[in-house]
Amino acid sequence: MKIVRHLLVAVAFIGFCVSPPALPAQLAPSPTTAPEPPPSFVPLVSPAPATQAPIPLAPVRPLAAQPLPTGALATGILAFDAEAKEAMVKPGEIAANYLFLLTNVSPAEITISRVQTSCGCTTAQMPPMPWKIPAGGTGQIPVVMNVQGKSGVVTKTLTVYTDRGLKSLLVKTTILPPAPQLMTAADRERNQLLAKTDRQAVFKGDCARCHVEPVIGKFGKDLYLTACGICHETEHRATMVPDLRNLPNDTNADYWKLMITMGKEGTLMPAFAQAQGGPLSDPQIKTLVGYLVTNFPAQGTNSRPWLPKPKL
Ligand code: HEC
Ligand code: HEC
Repeated sequence: MKIVRHLLVAVAFIGFCVSPPALPAQLAPSPTTAPEPPPSFVPLVSPAPATQAPIPLAPVRPLAAQPLPTGALATGILAFDAEAKEAMVKPGEIAANYLFLLTNVSPAEITISRVQTSCGCTTAQMPPMPWKIPAGGTGQIPVVMNVQGKSGVVTKTLTVYTDRGLKSLLVKTTILPPAPQLMTAADRERNQLLAKTDRQAVFKGDCARCHVEPVIGKFGKDLYLTACGICHETEHRATMVPDLRNLPNDTNADYWKLMITMGKEGTLMPAFAQAQGGPLSDPQIKTLVGYLVTNFPAQGTNSRPWLPKPKL
């Protein structure tokens, strides 16, 4: 009875092997090309249902010492429709689904003993293990990657353990960013009103989502585009927001630094320095000034009356 229990545990364990716990080498199925073994050599991992009469355990032990191959699966044995698959999910979707198709292109049966994934978030839905695929036979490995709470690009690997070596597969999910929210005229009016009473309002509360969060950890050009570009580079910008490439006045490092640090009192141009309640550190401001000095004209339009009227 004890032996039967052991067997049940072993079979259940193998069936469970889609997930990380390592399959002990001694549970490896014997090569299927071997001739029908004598009754005393019945392999432990036979596909026999657990309800069958107990199989003698003792004689199996020496055979079971066979190690599971750890090298890569040679070509010409198991063909996959692809070794890497990519998918995109929309924001809010929680899972990406993949399907790998495989064909045993070798002349002999092949046994898959388990599929291991590089993350608990990714699971392969496998038939009961060991999975024996006859010569010429085909199969599918459906894979689900849970992307809940993730963003950007998530890449995970799967390792298929066969009796003739390991095969690595890759799944890559791109989680699309939320669609940019267009502001309504009412939003804009409300924002401007708020900014008029407090030009630093733009760094507070819900405003921070668009006016502060994107600038965190940015420097130079990226900082310009996120911190300043949101107001100064958009085509929808209010008429009172000037084009910084066509300011009437001349510009230099001191001018930029002062504008960034202190903003412009009495207008909607906020003060960005942390000392003024803004989001930017001194090193950030330094790289931003550097970017502006080298990429924006030093001469204002007042100094360039001969230039054609700028196109905004
Ligand atoms: C969803 C993102 C988003 C949020 C939230 C947001 N803004 Fe803006 N803001 C923008 C964009 C984008 C612009 C550039 C103008 C445009 O595209 O309409 C802008 C421009 C501005 C301007 C320049 C004037 C103008 O209308 O062009 C001010 C001032 C401003 N925002 C203040 C605020 C304040 C204050 C808040 C919070 C009450 C806020 N914003 C919240 C995205 C946002
Ligand atoms: C919330 C929107 C907003 C953001 C963000 C913003 N500005 Fe402005 N900026 C303004 C507005 C509005 C004015 C026009 C002020 C006025 O009425 O004279 C302005 C004016 C300016 C001026 C011209 C000031 C002058 O001499 O008259 C400069 C320079 C400037 N901004 C630089 C920047 C830089 C650099 C950044 C990024 C660190 C930035 N701004 C971010 C709204 C913004």
